[in-house]
Amino acid sequence: MPMLKAEDVRFDYEYENEAPQTVLRGVNLTVEKGSFVALLGHNGCGKSTLAKHFNAILLPTGGRVLVEDLDTADEANTYPIRRRVGMVLQNPDNQLVSTIVEEDVAFGPENLGLPPEEIRRRVDEALEAVDMTAYRDHSPHRLSGGQKQRIAIAGVLAMHPDCLLLDEPTAMLDPQGRQEVLDTVCRLNREGMTVVLITHYMEEAALADRVVVMDEGVVLADGTPHTIFADVEKMRAWGLDVPQPTALCAALRDRGIDLPADLLTPEECAAALMQLLTDPNHRKA
Ligand SMILES: Nc1ncnc2c1ncn2[C@@H]1O[C@H](COP(=O)(O)OP(=O)(O)OP(=O)(O)O)[C@@H](O)[C@H]1O
Ligand SMILES: [Mg+2]
Repeated sequence: MPMLKAEDVRFDYEYENEAPQTVLRGVNLTVEKGSFVALLGHNGCGKSTLAKHFNAILLPTGGRVLVEDLDTADEANTYPIRRRVGMVLQNPDNQLVSTIVEEDVAFGPENLGLPPEEIRRRVDEALEAVDMTAYRDHSPHRLSGGQKQRIAIAGVLAMHPDCLLLDEPTAMLDPQGRQEVLDTVCRLNREGMTVVLITHYMEEAALADRVVVMDEGVVLADGTPHTIFADVEKMRAWGLDVPQPTALCAALRDRGIDLPADLLTPEECAAALMQLLTDPNHRKA
């Protein structure tokens, strides 16, 4: 059974005095358990709207959304769905509710009405998972952006979800904060968490095991980062970039240098350039 499934999902935003706006126009997407999916697409194409369908914040106007085998349209499923699918948003300040880190992380489990010793266990475990145990007594408002976002993730983890939906979780962070959050997300995925990461950073998408590209409310492309980013022209036509190493290799290929198209990371790019420089067949006389 997949973790998430969107079947021909359509969604219209309704407005008071205007015609409704169709934002999702038949999205089909299956997210397998334990996978790490990056969701890309230019501004306003419907990524956040789709994400909100996966934890039943929004219900489809047409088609259906399943979380495991639970249909989001059935109100009885809303609560179990929100327990399974945790959402992390862009601005960590909007997600922090308490003046002490550990109280913040305890907020969700407390609302579940769990016994105090279970809450304590979950808070300890969640802080450990985001490597923030040392800050348990601190005020979240005095932490760095990356640390705040890790506390927000801990708060979601304390609910014991099976899936994390992260909607541009690094957009407001500095490079170090971004790296901290990504390291955390990658490790959680390696330990079995299903991850859907919405991002405008192509280097982040390259970390996923699958990249899904949306445009105007439909899924345009779906594949491994290597296959999706290899088509630099197409990505640019869709208003998207590719990771910098991929762009560099594409620019060199345009100048007639024989490099593979599907290089993603600085390491892969460096290795290919090194090979080129040391290959006697490529050496100029
Ligand atoms: N709460 C809302 N009420 C009405 N219209 C909305 C609402 N949220 C989004 N929209 C509209 O729906 C469309 C899709 O928005 P959405 O936020 O899903 O895009 P997105 O792909 O997440 O964009 P971005 O990359 O900028 O975050 C946009 O045209 C937006 O104006
Ligand atoms: Mg969005």
